[in-house]
Amino acid sequence: MKKEQIIKMIEIAFSQLAYSYTPYSDFKVGAALLGKNGRIYTGCNIENAAYTPSNCAERTAFFKAVSDGERNFRAIAIVGGKEGEKDYDFCSPCGVCRQVMMEFCDPEEFEIVLGNSAGDIKVIKLKDILPEGFGPENLE
Ligand code: THU
Repeated sequence: MKKEQIIKMIEIAFSQLAYSYTPYSDFKVGAALLGKNGRIYTGCNIENAAYTPSNCAERTAFFKAVSDGERNFRAIAIVGGKEGEKDYDFCSPCGVCRQVMMEFCDPEEFEIVLGNSAGDIKVIKLKDILPEGFGPENLE
């Protein structure tokens, strides 16, 4: 991906922090998922009083995209941190979200873009954060 596209996705991910619903953890996460159709699907984390029904920002973005008809993806930008803290460190996706990525993305190609509040950027391939992952091909 081009640098400008990466920066745009990180900015969109940051804009999602405003919608994040986190009365229990105060940990805000925003995501911007780029479909192969060129569209960007946004997501924020949404918590729940019963805790386990909470949904991560990444899965919110994936489920919005899939429910809108897109199943092919190039990259996802993720940002997050504790509300009220002035510096946001890199926020790496949880194991459940990595597994959802594995369902729809080529682990050799799909890029995970992490941004912090200092403006640093990390771009990681899914295969590097979910090595030996189990995916749809394992069921063929
Ligand atoms: N969270 C995400 O949305 N994405 C991640 O990658 C890590 C964790 C959310 C879940 C929960 O609402 C809060 O952050 C604290 O775990």
